[in-house]
Amino acid sequence: YYRKEIPEGLRQLPGPTSFPVIGNLLELGKAPYLSLTEMGKRYGEVFQIQLGSRPVVVLSGLETVRQALIKQGDDFSGRPDLYSFRFINDGKSLAFSTDKTGVWRARRKLAYSALRSFATLEGKNPEYSCVLEEHICKESEHLIKELHTVMKTKGKFDPFRYIVVSVANVICGMCFGRRYDHHDQELLGLVNLSEDFVQVTGSGNPADFIPALQYLPSKTMTKFVAINNRFCSFVQKIVSEHYATFDKDNIRDITDSLIDHCEDRKLDENSNVQLSDEKIVGIVNDLFGAGFDTISTALSWSVMYLVAYPEIEERLFEEIKDKIGLERTPNLSDRNNLPLLEAFILELFRHSSFLPFTIPHCSTKDTSLNGFFIPKDTCVFINQWQINHDSELWKDPSSFIPDRFLSEDGTEVNRLEGEKVITFGLGKRRCIGEVIARNEVFLFLAIIIQKLHFYQLPGEPLDLSPEYGLTMKHKRCLLGVKLRSENEQ
Ligand code: HEM
Repeated sequence: YYRKEIPEGLRQLPGPTSFPVIGNLLELGKAPYLSLTEMGKRYGEVFQIQLGSRPVVVLSGLETVRQALIKQGDDFSGRPDLYSFRFINDGKSLAFSTDKTGVWRARRKLAYSALRSFATLEGKNPEYSCVLEEHICKESEHLIKELHTVMKTKGKFDPFRYIVVSVANVICGMCFGRRYDHHDQELLGLVNLSEDFVQVTGSGNPADFIPALQYLPSKTMTKFVAINNRFCSFVQKIVSEHYATFDKDNIRDITDSLIDHCEDRKLDENSNVQLSDEKIVGIVNDLFGAGFDTISTALSWSVMYLVAYPEIEERLFEEIKDKIGLERTPNLSDRNNLPLLEAFILELFRHSSFLPFTIPHCSTKDTSLNGFFIPKDTCVFINQWQINHDSELWKDPSSFIPDRFLSEDGTEVNRLEGEKVITFGLGKRRCIGEVIARNEVFLFLAIIIQKLHFYQLPGEPLDLSPEYGLTMKHKRCLLGVKLRSENEQ
């Protein structure tokens, strides 16, 4: 890396001095979102660190991040070429690969419209407003039965283990038109390994920045490569089955609609980018991966907070009992009617900040931010955790207080406060699953809070400290759960 000359009128990025070879890697420590938040207090909202051989710009502060990702969106919409990203989805990931702007944009549009048609548009079953609602209602019913059984036989349960299967089934339904049993070993083996995936993809993974490490044996990296291969062959098998049974007049799911698009594309004269069939059908891999890990992490954290704050759990139950009653199952149209639940979800996103950094970005040309020069191809970390815990923006940021998002009388959610929570990124690379994710977290929670009471078991500690990664998980733990209807008998 040769330092480019700084154009007149612009300043050089501030930042800590760095050691040879490793740069500032050791200073990141076990919780880079905390150490980089601390550094930001010293160097400002735009500063530079050196990770191994590579300079990395770290952004914090809501206005600075909005400026970079929204107002200067094109300048910061790239992805860096990181070693670990090359193993994801065989190097052809929509979210992680270094696809050129035109290719990425075309794929993103396709992914978005496939998601829309197989999640939020009206489905075949008139009982439900959309396919997403149908899948969530059915999966939560299975989940409640499974939890009831495991409590009867074992007296305790691991929340992540059960939630992840339910959430994976929702996205499997939309992507592949199928679901798996809660004891299906093939699916369990896949979805229970996501810890090994998120550890390596968290911002600041040493092997991404120190090339020498790529040649040393590493257990974490070996597991990472293995899970990516396993993931690809799982999806590949299903895709082959779809090709074999494909019928243009009966598009069954997202996979079919992408296969269908491969033919359309050859007819499409307006588009000036050519996508290979692989890059089109490979999109389903991203949707499936992004769709189960994030949402199951959010729901598993939710259950932890319910158990840690039993008085909030009771208030949430009372709200549902009042507004919906206990006879009918909640649905998506209840979302505007449950302000406390909405506030709980916002506070869950803010307080846990379980996606502490977005996926790393990269500058697409020489640019500047807040008067500092940022050369083309610079890797950029966006510290979402810092924004969600900034004492300039939040009163008592380290406390879990859903009521901070409610109006004085508690009847409405304060939308402006809600928009300060940054969980899905912003701008050009903003999450394309956001609407689905918010709806899914809402509906799963509304249904399970209506039917179930979660509680801590004696002798089972409740540990809410996150383990660092692309998505941060709480430590695995064992909880108790009871049907509300049993309580009343
Ligand atoms: C990207 C958050 C659920 C699909 C992202 C990013 C974040 C994020 C922070 C990166 C933004 C950036 O790099 O600036 C979340 C959270 C979720 C969630 C917190 C759940 C609570 C989903 C779901 C899907 C999805 C359900 C699809 C079914 C994607 C895709 C990208 C992405 C495809 C890559 C976009 C791109 O690189 O252009 N998400 N996500 N996400 N998300 Fe989500």
